Amino acid sequence: MTGLAETKRAQPGEDVISDLVHAQSADEDYDHEEMIQLCVGLLFAGHETTVNRIGLGTLFLLTRPGPWQALTADPEGRVNATVEEIMRLGAPGDLGLLRYAHTDVDIASVTIQQGDAVILSINSANRDASVYTDAETFDPDRAERTHLGFGHGPHFCIGASLARTELRVVFATLARRLPGLRLATRLEELEVRPTLTGGVTDLPVTW
Ligand code: HEM
Repeated sequence: MTGLAETKRAQPGEDVISDLVHAQSADEDYDHEEMIQLCVGLLFAGHETTVNRIGLGTLFLLTRPGPWQALTADPEGRVNATVEEIMRLGAPGDLGLLRYAHTDVDIASVTIQQGDAVILSINSANRDASVYTDAETFDPDRAERTHLGFGHGPHFCIGASLARTELRVVFATLARRLPGLRLATRLEELEVRPTLTGGVTDLPVTW
């Protein structure tokens, strides 16, 4: 990120990193290290998370003719529910939320002791068969509208509204402009990214 910031300093563009580099150099109270950390946070928490939901969402839709046809028939009317279902089933795979128990808690015959660290699996919660009917099915029309794709509680994703807006614009536009979109590879050839934000390495498509 330091390298990218220096590239942007030499050749500023119309982008948020160029703006932050400029703001930092114009303000002597703005620490360089702090600016770099913000850029890293924006890239990981703000950009990679959303990019990979776009990839996975496209994959969900192109492998399920029903929901894709429904979206192309009524992009504006269907996009919100479609995005929420993408957020439910396409939560970052390995992103466990770290929490510490404030008191002893009994869950499923296990006692988590006060002070214990626990890693909460968003994916497991979002596929909880006691909450969702046919939990593994991609169904934007499902009655259960809730999910933990943006976390929960005091650390709930601060960028959730921005991410939802981006995803709604992307999927409504894709459905409107490229209704004939389809995968240009076999499912087995796709490679899952082994990173915190999940997704696939490439998603070849054609129309
Ligand atoms: C679809 C895209 C996104 C997903 C799946 C996502 C997911 C999450 C999740 C699960 C958390 C909770 C972490 C925890 O409880 O420990 C979180 C927090 C956070 N997200 Fe997002 N996020 C997305 C987009 C964004 C965007 C666009 C931004 C900023 C531009 C952002 C910035 C943050 C920040 C700063 C936090 C920490 C909040 C805190 O600890 O108080 N995220 N995100």
